[in-house]
Amino acid sequence: MKEKKDRKEIGLAVVGSGAIGKIRAAFARDYPGVGWIGICDINESLAKKLAEETKADFYTTDYKELLKRREINAAIISTDENNHVEPILAAVEQGHRLFIEKPLATNVKDSRMVYEAIKESGVDAVMGYTNRFRRRFLTIKERLRTGEIGEITTVTTRAFMNRMVPIATLRRTELKGNLQPMVVSGTHSLDMSLWLMEGKEPSEIYARSIDKALGHIGTKDATFGIFTMNDGTLWSMNISWALPIVWPGAVYGLEIGIVGTQGVITIDDTHRDLVLASEKPQWAGYRPEGYKPEFERHVEFLTSFPPGDMAFGQLWGPMREETNSWFARLYTGMDTPHATAWDGHRNLVLTMAMCLSADRGTPIKLPIDEEEFYK
Ligand SMILES: NC(=O)c1ccc[n+]([C@@H]2O[C@H](COP(=O)([O-])OP(=O)(O)OC[C@H]3O[C@@H](n4cnc5c(N)ncnc54)[C@H](O)[C@@H]3O)[C@@H](O)[C@H]2O)c1
Repeated sequence: MKEKKDRKEIGLAVVGSGAIGKIRAAFARDYPGVGWIGICDINESLAKKLAEETKADFYTTDYKELLKRREINAAIISTDENNHVEPILAAVEQGHRLFIEKPLATNVKDSRMVYEAIKESGVDAVMGYTNRFRRRFLTIKERLRTGEIGEITTVTTRAFMNRMVPIATLRRTELKGNLQPMVVSGTHSLDMSLWLMEGKEPSEIYARSIDKALGHIGTKDATFGIFTMNDGTLWSMNISWALPIVWPGAVYGLEIGIVGTQGVITIDDTHRDLVLASEKPQWAGYRPEGYKPEFERHVEFLTSFPPGDMAFGQLWGPMREETNSWFARLYTGMDTPHATAWDGHRNLVLTMAMCLSADRGTPIKLPIDEEEFYK
């Protein structure tokens, strides 16, 4: 931790003023260690509105102009998935500490290039794997660290998602190629599983996909895979992101089972413990702007939106803890469990290796030669 006299105010750039940029900028406004705030979005009205809401010092549509400002020493890159690379590189060039929304990039070459640039510059860069900041996962991580279940032998990870998420994600871009369930959303449960299994490295993946429900919008419905780890641990990892709009889990539901030589841990993170049923349609958890779902949903498992939930005009939940912990990391030097840029690159490569194995119909040895993705 830094001595009080060594703490220096954070001068923050928020690049991307959409759903997530808005949430994080609001926390910045309230964090005592944040001084100057600059906001950017290519959509000027969004940038202006967020700047007004957060009483920011400056706004622009040009991230280069913002990142070059002398007041800035840290940046949040919260642009949409296909637009992370350029602002990250511009921030690295200026030596700013970084908080980057996942994924690092949407293809392996860009992701590697961005990761190497970060590594070479030595800037402290973390990534938004928000689940790591939830009390339930932190307590399990601690039990695994202290060896309560002995040595892990098998892990099963099942992610269920409402198809509203892929429909909303794919409709905002023409670059749909890599917007597959594992790459965009399975990456969260993959990161969690690997974090819980820390120290084990995947040595093979064998996966399969199906696209009967969402093939027409340019993505797969589900990907199922089995990883073999370098010590023989077996890990079954799957995601289905084509659950119907009427499925009560509005966004993300997760089940993980971890079996060890001396114990077991099961995690029910499906949100079935908080059920709301109403004659009124329910979209409180998640409803992308301008998107009109074809069906009404009247039953909702509350708290399935990973960032958290709105109450009294503010977001409460893991994204608050994650963002404020990052500010503390910068301001007080606190040690935090954020995912690193390397975790982000590794997660992209592994999720894409699952897609490649499914496309080829063959197992793939890991670590993979990254050129394989371009053959
Ligand atoms: N950690 C989580 O739980 C979580 C949840 C949802 C989304 N995300 C991630 O957060 C990121 C943003 O998602 P979102 O839902 O806020 O998207 P969004 O589409 O609502 O917002 C993205 C914004 O970035 C702007 N933008 C694009 N290119 C830009 C550029 N070059 N310069 C400035 N602005 C630019 C767009 O105009 C848009 O307003 C994505 O990477 C997504 O995967 C994380």
